[in-house]
Amino acid sequence: MKPLKQHTIWGLRGSFILAATGSAVGLGNIWKFPYITGENGGGAFVLMYLLWIAVIGIPIMMAEILMGRRARANPIMATAELCETSGASKGWTVIGWMGALAGLVILSFYTVIAGWTLEYVQSALSGKFAGLTGETSQALFDGLLADNSKMLQWHTIFTLMTVTILALGVTRGLEASVRWMMPLLFVLLLILLGYAMVEGEFVTSLRFMFSFNIEDVSWESALTAMGHSFFTLSLGMGAIMAYGAYMPSTQSVGKTVMLVALLDTLVALVAGVAIFALVFATPGIAVGSGPGLMFVTLPVAFGNMSAGLVIGSVFFVMVMLAAWTSTISLLEPGVAYLNERFGLSRIGASVLLGVIAWLLGLGSVWSFNDWSDKQFLWGKSYFDSMDFIATNIMLPLGGMLIALFVGWKLRDEHLLHELKFESSLLLKVWRPILRYISPVAVLVILINGIFPVLRKVFVE
Ligand code: TRP
Repeated sequence: MKPLKQHTIWGLRGSFILAATGSAVGLGNIWKFPYITGENGGGAFVLMYLLWIAVIGIPIMMAEILMGRRARANPIMATAELCETSGASKGWTVIGWMGALAGLVILSFYTVIAGWTLEYVQSALSGKFAGLTGETSQALFDGLLADNSKMLQWHTIFTLMTVTILALGVTRGLEASVRWMMPLLFVLLLILLGYAMVEGEFVTSLRFMFSFNIEDVSWESALTAMGHSFFTLSLGMGAIMAYGAYMPSTQSVGKTVMLVALLDTLVALVAGVAIFALVFATPGIAVGSGPGLMFVTLPVAFGNMSAGLVIGSVFFVMVMLAAWTSTISLLEPGVAYLNERFGLSRIGASVLLGVIAWLLGLGSVWSFNDWSDKQFLWGKSYFDSMDFIATNIMLPLGGMLIALFVGWKLRDEHLLHELKFESSLLLKVWRPILRYISPVAVLVILINGIFPVLRKVFVE
């Protein structure tokens, strides 16, 4: 069978790997992974996380790529087409629609946080971290959150950065940008690691990240590891499906996915070890700093070490790049849809969706200041409500539907055509996992995510 229609395909083999890794590596790896590992039992947590990557992450990522590449279209049209050719109900197209919508919602608040990294690049470069203490660093961060015009400015700039890459197109925008951003990100990470090994408390950090603290392992940490394995690979909303449409047919899906998962995990581990090495080397700051680790604790470390100005700048530029290559994949499904379905130019489509996400994001900007005591869903701020709807509901729901659709509905000939380069062992284990285990695991993530809210509504 030939591809169903003519479509842009990235010419260079590594492009898909760089783009998918770019989507996967983001704030989740550098900001979230280190502190949840510290809180949930170190090495034991890492092991559980790796197990979930194998059971949920790799099978579902393969399923997404397969759908995009088979149909050679954006996720909305791809699901519609695959429904038709495999005789499945049209209802499954909800995968594409919900995914594009989730992308817009996630983008709207992701650019707010990503905007903070721009502020921190500026602060690092202008030497604002010098001599910070725990309190002054907290004050600096609180000052940013309280300043709504500054927050708005960075949110706007990050949205513009995202729109620019998308408007440049699939080859000149997406492909060209990941080809320099991702290598640069890896180089910056290696500089950071090298510095942490020489100047930081490297061994203490390794012991902290990887020591087996069985007593910290609980059901809750297993669930945290499960949810994170799904989120960190950008699954459930069609970002990877959209990129799959540009992947050459001769590339092995299984091998590619394993490489992407490996790179994503490596970045998280290396960033975590380096961050803790620097934090441990700074006397007088608490390590179990939770979500404040990156924006409060780490600047104190940068402000009190030799070459802190350079290393601090390297660090925040790296986080900014990681976030940037993620935001472009959040908007790609929608942009490709408007472009392929209605013939809207890439520029028009990216600007239109960028404006919508920007508007949706205004509430997230204000929820840290003017709207800080306004409640939306069940006592949550606007920002937390958006995060909750997209991350805890739409993504797992989408992921579950993708696993069920590819596992049960897609015709064998579609699968075999896309998977002709895989080893037969992989194929033998992949489909049963996708049919039986992944959907159940993702359902558990979904229930776990909405359980606290259900309890609030029905019990309290
Ligand atoms: N994987 C990204 C991170 O770790 C976050 C993310 C989740 C995402 N789902 C996504 C990014 C979909 C792009 C597209 O930060």
